[in-house]
This record gives sequence, C-alpha cells and structure tokens, in this order.
Amino acid sequence: KTMISNIDVNNIDLKELKKHSKLLSEGKTVIFPTETVYGLGANALDENAVKKIYEAKGRPSDNPLIVHIYSKEEVYDLAKDINEKAEIIMERFWPGPITIILNKKEIVPKTTSGGLDTVAIRMPSHKIAREIIKQSGVPIAAPSANISGRPSPTKANHVQEQMDGRVSGIVLGGDSNFGIESTVIDLTGDIPMILRPGSITKENLECVIGKVDIDPSLAKKEDNKKAKAPGMKYTHYSPDADVYIVSGRQENVIIKINNLIEENTKNGLTTGVMCLDKNKHKYNCEVLSLGNTLEEVASKLFDTLIQMDKQNIDVVYSEEFESTGLGQAIMNRLLKSAGYKVIKA
Ligand code: TXA
Ligand code: MG
Repeated sequence: KTMISNIDVNNIDLKELKKHSKLLSEGKTVIFPTETVYGLGANALDENAVKKIYEAKGRPSDNPLIVHIYSKEEVYDLAKDINEKAEIIMERFWPGPITIILNKKEIVPKTTSGGLDTVAIRMPSHKIAREIIKQSGVPIAAPSANISGRPSPTKANHVQEQMDGRVSGIVLGGDSNFGIESTVIDLTGDIPMILRPGSITKENLECVIGKVDIDPSLAKKEDNKKAKAPGMKYTHYSPDADVYIVSGRQENVIIKINNLIEENTKNGLTTGVMCLDKNKHKYNCEVLSLGNTLEEVASKLFDTLIQMDKQNIDVVYSEEFESTGLGQAIMNRLLKSAGYKVIKA
C-alpha cells in the first residue's frame, strides 16, 4: 500500500516528510514534487532500489536516470573530470532546473546510468525535494513520475491518479513551478551540448559559458533515433488523443483549424484546440487555453494534454510557438507529443 502525505510547501511538516525519507533510506520508492515536474525517487547508489523505479514506470532499462543531490559538494563524490564550465553552471544555476552530464565515478551503479559511463546530476530548488533528499542521506535517482511514454506530472492529482499503488510513498505538494523538465546539458565534450531543452535556455547558458550546441537530432522525427539522451528517442508525452501542430501565419492557422474542426465533427470526432488565451474565442470547439506567456504555456502544457484525455477528445490541434528561448523547450515537448505531425496552414 502506498503511503500518501499532503505537505504544504510553505509550512513543511518535517515529521511527516521524515516518514518518506525513511522509505528512501530503506531502498523504497517515493514520489515527491520538484520545481520542474514530480519525480519518482529511490536511492541512486542502490541497484535494487533503482530497479524498482524502472518497474514502477514501465521504463526501458537503457534509459538513464537523473541523480538528485542536496549540496553541490556531492557532485565530486559521484563524478570525475569536473571542468570549469560545470563549475560555472553549478554556481550560477543550482539549485534549479538544470541537469549536468559528467563522467561517472565507480560508486554510481550502471543501473542508474543506463549502462553509460556518464551520470546526470541535478540539485533541485523545490523546498520539499531538498528536504526529502537531505533527510534520506543519499543521492536520489528520480525520473519524472509518469508511466513511461505519458505526459510528465505537474500537479498532485496527476501522480495520485497514475501512481497510487505503484510506489511505497507519495508526497503531494501542489503544482510544479516550471512544468517542463530540467534542461539536460552534456559537459563531457569540448563544446557543451544541450540534450534536452528546458527552462534554462541556450541563451541563458551562452551568457555564462560561451558557445553551446543543441543536439541536432532533436529537431526531426527521422533523426530522433540518434538522440544523445536515450530518453529523447522514445515516444513521449503522448496523450490518447491524436495531436497535431498547425503552423503558419496566425490568421491562416485559425482558418485551417476551424476547417479541420468542421470536418472532424462530420466524421463524428471530437476536437480540442490548445492555443494562446488571446485566440481562445476564435475556435469553434473545446478550447484549452495555454495562457498568454511562454512561461504559462510551459507550466500548463502537460496538464492540458492530460485534461484532453479526461474529456475523451479524439483530435487535438495546437498552435505553434516561437522556437527561441523557452519556446525551444515547449516546441520540443509539443513535437514529441504530436509524434512530429505538423500541418502547414
Ligand atoms: O526536471 C527533471 O529533470 C525531472 C525531475 C524529476 O527532476 N526528471 C526527469 O527525469 O525529467 P527523466 O528520467 O524523465 O529524464 C531524464 C533525461 C532522459 O531523457 C535521459 O535519457 C537523459 O535525461 N539522461 C540521463 N542520464 C543521461 C546520461 N548519462 N547521458 C545522456 N542522457 C542522459
Ligand atoms: Mg520523463
């Protein structure tokens, strides 16, 4: 049976939280909130504990996990060849939504690193996440707390509905702040490479460490199999509905989507639209607004995809967003949830 606790992030009940840290120190699995999405954690240094994560998620075992730490010093226990750029990123962006890839030390089991010689490390800023990691006394491997392939959970009800019964503990702590997963950056090569875009953008990073590349295989479906982060090559963020991105000039997109809605209705299909709030009234169907700013879109995206399924919507059309800054992470997740299906308007 899963132990479930509701914790107020502004008034953390340390005694209640300790019960969950204890589960983690005993090699069990616990879901907890982070500033990006909810994570499904276990002791990163204990192979048997880590196996339970893969089981609970139904995740392929060649897909490596991110190791979450409480203090920066722990990086030196887990990784080697830590260069200046890594140190700058840690100094500037931790605690926060960025994960660094470094060469791993022996202590990190291959089960955690998906068989690789590198390890992904992140120091989250969420108060509950920090407290639970600290009290458990070990680094915590934690992927997003969704069933493999589904949208990542950003709200308490998402984890409760999907994961009750699959893990030993669940800590519910409200909504995630950012709503998309951390930026993943590989620092083992000459030029740092973003393997998964996130809230800390290429632009943010270039300001402090100079030139940064983005894994070129992220842009297209055909190239996706070559993605450098193993997790990026799998089908992902997929709701049951058939998702399409409609691209083109704003006014053309609106006409196109409304035509498609009409056709779907004739064929007995229900349609949903994901759009900016300002365009909400322009579509003749169920509209789920993603807000007005890219920050809002990022924080609402996964929840909106999950809601579309709850409403049994058959086909979803999404407006396209600009591909710079935070828009890069949004379009990456959106393209994956759409299986790279883009309709030109
Ligand atoms: O925001 C986040 O990062 C969340 C929260 C819970 O911290 N975690 C998360 O973990 O998104 P996960 O497992 O869903 O995604 C980790 C990504 C995967 O695409 C994985 O393939 C990649 O990071 N990754 C992990 N270790 C790697 C490594 N050594 N080399 C390359 N890619 C790696
Ligand atoms: Mg994930």
